[in-house]
Formats: sequence, structure tokens, C-alpha cells
Amino acid sequence: MKGPVVALLGLGTVGSAVARRLLNPPPWLVARLGGVPRLKGILVRHPGKPRPAAVDRSLLTTDADQLLGDPEVDVVIELIGGVEPARQYVLRALEAGRHVITANKALLAESLATLSAVARRHGVELAFEGAVAGGVPIIRPLLRCLAANRVRRLRAVLNGTCNFVLTQVEQGATLEDAVRAAQAAGYAEADPSDDLSGRDAARKLAILATLVTGEPVAWTAVARRGLDDPAFRRALQEGGGGGEAARQGGGAARWRLVATAEWTGPAPRLAVEPQMLPPHDPLLQAAGVENMILIEADPVGTVRFAGPGAGGDATASAVLADLIAIWRGDRLPLPDLEAGRSVAVQPSAAV
Ligand code: HSE
Repeated sequence: MKGPVVALLGLGTVGSAVARRLLNPPPWLVARLGGVPRLKGILVRHPGKPRPAAVDRSLLTTDADQLLGDPEVDVVIELIGGVEPARQYVLRALEAGRHVITANKALLAESLATLSAVARRHGVELAFEGAVAGGVPIIRPLLRCLAANRVRRLRAVLNGTCNFVLTQVEQGATLEDAVRAAQAAGYAEADPSDDLSGRDAARKLAILATLVTGEPVAWTAVARRGLDDPAFRRALQEGGGGGEAARQGGGAARWRLVATAEWTGPAPRLAVEPQMLPPHDPLLQAAGVENMILIEADPVGTVRFAGPGAGGDATASAVLADLIAIWRGDRLPLPDLEAGRSVAVQPSAAV
């Protein structure tokens, strides 16, 4: 069997981690793909920029039409981020009968229903394990392994940057220094205000809520406060980050940016906000860049998913898992998200 021919869109932190593994695939990746993958080309905006040594410059192109129109390409991996032009490229790839993998939560939070309908119409896969919680398996487990459950409630840490920042602040760093460290580590979005404002976590929460309900949930319906919230900043200054007790390993309440969704009333209630969590709260076990998702469901009870929530290698793990699944014909059981229908969310629903 031949391995997949891949077109990669974007060569940032995650794109570089994916490219390195496609260009120099470890034997287990080749075995699981059933053949050696071939990276046909990489779409970049600035071909002159310094690139990882493993990436031959002859692979770089600024010509999206040529790369997306290449008849040899089996799978397009979109890692440029942001809504446009990613949306146009993904649509074009799906319409041309290419499978698409994306880790782009901004795009999916806006257009999952449309893109999944186009993929369905063209008989191709749209896979996005890396879009929520980086390297933590959550999309396939939710759609597949929890398929027999009714989800009642979800509580989660969904932004690695904010969690990293709060953990650093607990250890005595200033918020500004901690944000700079998150940027240097490749965790933060191109515009870190997407992380700090809670927008990134709200988008991820809306994607999960869409999969839970089987109908589009608008990310803008998520009640949202971030680490840039003045009341939170004041509380942090007054009370510290829970730092002294955390440094001493003590059982102190600590801040986390918590995403919550509840399906217990007539309409779902969705919120992202900084919360001071009591010491026994399992979400406090997510340290540094880790994410954690707690799902309460019937009949299973509460299940926990946790691990590295951002960064090149962690997200590449999810993207390459999608590639293996697609190439093996392991289809993601996406609900039929009819474009245009959307779930009414209870307004300003702090939970
Ligand atoms: N900026 C995001 C985060 C990247 O920090 O969680 C992973 O989606």
C-alpha cells in the first residue's frame, strides 16, 4: 500500500512539527500508515523566513492554486490558523475531493457545520483532533467511545497558554513575564489576546458543545471573561495567584480559566471564566500547558481526559493520528450538522 501524498498549509509551530515527521517518518508511523507518506508541498506566506533544517526550500510555495489543484495530493493539512484564507483553502480542497485535517479552532468555531456538510457531499473526511486541547485525545473519544452516553455537564481547562500563565504566576512570575514565556514556548496564538480574553477557550468549548448536541453552537453565545478581565486582575493582585501555598505544596484555592457547559436545563449554558478552584478540584491537576476535560455523562459517570494542551509536538501527535485514521479508512462519526440550524443558548449564562 502507498502512503498518503500530503499538502501542508502553514509552517508555524505545529506545521513545522508535522513537516519534520512527514519528511523523516519514524518506522511506526510508516507501519501505521501502511506506506511512506510524501509531503508534496508546503504553502507559506513568507518563503524567505528561516525554516527548520529538515525542510527543503524546494517544498515551499506561495501558490495556493497550484498546491490545492495538484491531482496527486490525497490529504490537505491546514495549519495556517485564522478564519480566512484558511476557510477558502479548506473548502477548495474538500470540493476537489481531498481529505482535510485541520487544527484550526477559529475556523471550525465559525464553519464546522458548513465544512462538514461539504465534506459529506464530496465523500471525504474532515478531521480535527488537534483543534481542541492540543495533544489530548477528545474529539474521537467523545464521538466514538462515549457515543452511548448522554452528556450532562462538561468542565474543562481548554487553553494551555492561560493555564501555563496561571501556573507561573502561582510560582511568583508576573503575568506579563508569564505571557512572554508562553509565546516563546510556542503555546500562544499569533495574537495572544485570543488566549487571554478566553476567546480561544470559548471556540473550543463551542466545538465540543456542537459535537455533544449534534447541532451548531455559536461560540459567541459562550458567556466569557478572560485573564484580561479587570475584576480578575484586581483579585489576582490582591490575593496573589494562590502562589505562596502552591509553592509550599499547600492545599490552597487557585485560579484556573474554566470552561463549563451544562445540559441540565431547557437550553445549554456555556461559559468561560477565571475561577478560584478549591484545592480538591481535579482541574487543578492540569499544570503548566496541560489541559483537562471532565465529562459527566449517563451511563458512564465522570471521565477525565488530560495532557499537553498546546505546542508543536503535542498538536502534531493529534494531526498525525488524524492522518493515520483517514488513511486507514477509519471515518470520524461526525453528526449531521445541518447548516443554518443552531442551538439556542441561555443568554449570559455564567455557570
Ligand atoms: N493557544 C492555544 C492554547 C494553542 O494555548 O491552548 C492550542 O490550541
